[in-house]
Amino acid sequence: MNEIKELLWELKNVTKVFPGVKAINNLSLKIYSSEVHGMIGENGSGKSTIVKCLSGVYQPTSGKIFYRGNPIVIHNPMMACSLGVATIYQELSLVPSLTVAENIYIGRLPRKERFPFIVDWQEIVKKSLVILKKLGIDLDPLNIVADLSIAQQQMVEIAKALSRNANLIIMDEPSAAIGMEETKRLHEIVLNMAMQGYGIIYITHRLDELSVMDCVTVLKDGEVVGDRAKGRINVKEIVNLMIGHDVKEHYPKQINQTNDTLLTVSDIYTKKGINGVSFTVHQGEVFGLAGSIGSGRTEIGHAIFGIDDITDGSIKLQNCQVVMTKDKFTTPREAIKCGVALLTENRKYNGLFMNFNGVNNVSIAKLKKIVHRGILDLNKEEIFAKEYIDKLKITPTAVEQSVEFLSGGNQQKVIIARWMFCEANIFILDEPTQGIDIGAKVEVYRLINDITSHGKGVIFISSDFEELLAMSDRIGIVNKGKIIAVKEVKNINKKYLIEKAFVNQV
Ligand SMILES: Nc1ncnc2c1ncn2[C@@H]1O[C@H](COP(=O)(O)OP(=O)(O)OP(=O)(O)O)[C@@H](O)[C@H]1O
Ligand SMILES: [Mg+2]
Repeated sequence: MNEIKELLWELKNVTKVFPGVKAINNLSLKIYSSEVHGMIGENGSGKSTIVKCLSGVYQPTSGKIFYRGNPIVIHNPMMACSLGVATIYQELSLVPSLTVAENIYIGRLPRKERFPFIVDWQEIVKKSLVILKKLGIDLDPLNIVADLSIAQQQMVEIAKALSRNANLIIMDEPSAAIGMEETKRLHEIVLNMAMQGYGIIYITHRLDELSVMDCVTVLKDGEVVGDRAKGRINVKEIVNLMIGHDVKEHYPKQINQTNDTLLTVSDIYTKKGINGVSFTVHQGEVFGLAGSIGSGRTEIGHAIFGIDDITDGSIKLQNCQVVMTKDKFTTPREAIKCGVALLTENRKYNGLFMNFNGVNNVSIAKLKKIVHRGILDLNKEEIFAKEYIDKLKITPTAVEQSVEFLSGGNQQKVIIARWMFCEANIFILDEPTQGIDIGAKVEVYRLINDITSHGKGVIFISSDFEELLAMSDRIGIVNKGKIIAVKEVKNINKKYLIEKAFVNQV
């Protein structure tokens, strides 16, 4: 670690008010170079708002920001960028059709010295290679970004930040959408950057990431409720600070599994890389799918739900009131009719209606439930939706406000509420706890218990193998579009899953 730490940024008594919400309240914070500064806190505690104040997206309502000891007003993101702040949001901002190198230098492509109107492509590739090498990232600058995994795209974002001479790299939940192996790699890169003198703000909901932090600030309701330096970071204490009490049962698993089959998937194939997958889900069972990112877990869910066409093989649902026209679902609409629900992995792109409020987002997939004599009963809609908003402890502002303005975790909970409202028989949950805080995670686990206690089935996809083992009854291990083993959880452990999931991966 670089021993000379400089004070880069300081927030002094900063408050940010949105209509009806104090997102951060009289908050003070110091950010140093050569250090990974962790930020942790429940959904809606103000983490992203702090980041946006430092990135010039928002102006504080009151309070002061200092850069290297001097008071400063960050008027816009361009100004933040010129002061060395680079922010990597969860929604990456790369251009998919361009190469890695073009993305790194987008908007400021170097020109040939003698012919300044000609772009110096060789120089771009050369410079990109130097940065990627500095970071220890093994990527070809000529690769097209669309062909890269999310984790690799994140690396390109980091390289882009460094090429702009950033001194502070802000990462808002960088590990939420990537797998275990990629997270390990990301930690190495983050530590390497801190060693080279960069300041890093690292936001996460995953407590197993505390180890990468040199210090951590714990937020609650827009205020700092504690900060700890390395060596004094204790998981239990952090949880206590964050939610105000201890979490006794992280995984409140109920066994509701029966021997009656609910869903049979027989030897299915799709053009999206599913190569002969078979498994059954029993009534009351949580059937976990383990695998690396890109192994085909999401695609299995998509095939069952009628998003991707099943080219061979069949699926059969027991207890289905609606007669299936074929031995597969040809559209999601048909799947929903037959009682199948899918909680998508990427809520922003294919889950939420951003301009609708929380209530409308909950009711949308089963309006039939609130129709009275052919007309939507809006009172009934609100009563029903509020029940789920309460149950999942979604912020009450979700009733009125467009979901666009909710924190990431609250958005996730709104989608979960939607499928609860649908009363499906089979729930396909693709990374349901991604981006939600520890208290909300336990709520999701309780909901899984609630689902299975009514004899319904869950297909549970998660990159967090600990939670997968704790909450599933059986686990299918997906590798290269196939299920290579199905095991009762009592007979396996994390090591087994890692070995099987990552074997023969390139
Ligand atoms: N543009 C906005 N308009 C209105 N309210 C907002 C806006 N941005 C944030 N908020 C509110 O401010 C509060 C803090 O939100 P913020 O996104 O900073 O939380 P967070 O700690 O990042 O949460 P998460 O872990 O869920 O991402 C929340 O109540 C949120 O609804
Ligand atoms: Mg956030």
